[in-house]
Amino acid sequence: MSNIVNEIERRRTFAIISHPDAGKTTLTEKFLLYGGAIREAGTVKSRKSSKHAVSDWMEIEKQRGISVTSSVMQFKYNDFCINILDTPGHQDFSEDTYRTLMAADNAVMVIDGAKGVEAQTRKLFHVCALRETPIFTFVNKVDREIRDPYELLEELENELGIKTYPMNWPIGCGMNFKGVFDRVSREVLVFSGGKHGQEQVAVDRIGIDEEDKLIEYIGPAFYEKLMEDIELLDYAGDEFDVEAVRDGKLSPIFFGSALTNFGVEPFLIEFLKQTATPTPRQSDKGEIDIYEEPFSAFVFKIQANMNKAHRDRIAFMRICSGKFEKGIEVNHVQGGKKVRLSQPQQFMAQDREIIEEAYAGDIIGVFDPGIFNIGDTLCKNPNKFTFEGIPSFAPEHFARVKPIDTMKRKQFIKGVTQISQEGAIQVFKRPNIGVEEIIVGVVGVLQFEVLEYRMKNEYNVDIKLEQLAFSNIRWIEESPVAVDKLSLTSDTRLVKDIKDRSILLFQSEWGIGFALEHNPGLVLSSIGKA
Ligand code: G4P
Repeated sequence: MSNIVNEIERRRTFAIISHPDAGKTTLTEKFLLYGGAIREAGTVKSRKSSKHAVSDWMEIEKQRGISVTSSVMQFKYNDFCINILDTPGHQDFSEDTYRTLMAADNAVMVIDGAKGVEAQTRKLFHVCALRETPIFTFVNKVDREIRDPYELLEELENELGIKTYPMNWPIGCGMNFKGVFDRVSREVLVFSGGKHGQEQVAVDRIGIDEEDKLIEYIGPAFYEKLMEDIELLDYAGDEFDVEAVRDGKLSPIFFGSALTNFGVEPFLIEFLKQTATPTPRQSDKGEIDIYEEPFSAFVFKIQANMNKAHRDRIAFMRICSGKFEKGIEVNHVQGGKKVRLSQPQQFMAQDREIIEEAYAGDIIGVFDPGIFNIGDTLCKNPNKFTFEGIPSFAPEHFARVKPIDTMKRKQFIKGVTQISQEGAIQVFKRPNIGVEEIIVGVVGVLQFEVLEYRMKNEYNVDIKLEQLAFSNIRWIEESPVAVDKLSLTSDTRLVKDIKDRSILLFQSEWGIGFALEHNPGLVLSSIGKA
């Protein structure tokens, strides 16, 4: 087997999704711990004191205790090379999550065993389901009181509309948590508490037919209940079908406790068995062969100032075919130019490492001199093609933004422009008025806070934000007259986006109806197509 094929075959790429507090950060850390990427987990608890959770690198995340941007990490486990895409759990940052999911082949969904399916779980699940992404469920916190496991499975099936297959089954929970029954190996993995989850733990395994030993470890009552559960699961449950998992139709369920490391390694092992090689992506020339096609990738995320000391801008891309080599010259299709990809990096939270090569399935970051946009395609092949676009979401909240110190206008414009290129905010300008008015649109209001914080910390500009009553945005696709001559309600505003496209901001659905009715031939779109 050629080296490229071999390297690509060992790649696995997944995004990790959950409602805030379900334990996503903790689980991510534990994966890194088992992958040997870190030696000791900085527990989430101590993130608030000295040691920070490795996947939470932005100042603001540390302060607020929530993830606002997705981080990308790579680690090796056995012979596999795994890319994890961490996503923000808070709904105000869903847009970033949607983009990140485009770069992933699988999703790991973390559920709090006491809470079950929560609002954000539902939302993120549906994005994965739209793309038929295989979903692996980790029911977390079994070391605490959790809900009845049968009830949890039923809720997953009913609320999310996906079939489930428990790969293991918990024995007790909370103070009485004894371990899990592994349905593949037919063994009980005994829970012994571990060293508070900071280090890898070795687990005792007892075969299901070793009755005396099992009773000694888990007690007669739990033994009896376990035997009943096994019978019920084996005879009443769905069949396991790995193809259905890969098609996103069946979710394997794993019970565990990220905090104490329990069930993390068995999860990883099964996950790697059940997932396939990197998924081929669609382009305007059809499906791109991951092995045959030379290097190709798409940009799914742009992040400026990741490291204050560097003041740089990184474009994150998902490699979709072939091999990447440091310094490679490729076609930047949307830019219409050849570019040399410099300073290629892979990430371990705030640590970054310059890499020499990477393969289909990997996520890499390259230095962006300000030329890339989200959704851009890069390919080595002179017969250029473009990957499917990444949809941009219509903002729902708008604010007029200006620098408090008018002398800092240049720096202010630079900041809002750069942050908008990352896709975190959308910037609109009002044409034909004295000092150009800047209106910022966001999908979730917390993004305003992030903007304020970043402008101050990264660009040294204090800003004044004044929220506006607009709630709907429409791009003008066709207009029967010059756009400033349209007949509109007095509370509708005409603005331009950074690509100089004309846009209408409305305060209500009624305003949209008015515009369409009074301007026959006017065509509006709710999506700003790339
Ligand atoms: P998130 O990224 O999904 O938001 O969750 P995160 O990992 O930050 O975990 C949220 C809280 O849940 C943390 O507690 C963490 O220690 C705890 N946690 C995670 N996994 C487990 C588990 O398996 N068992 C138990 N018992 N707890 C777990 P925290 O930040 O200290 O807050 P809190 O405990 O005061 O709520």
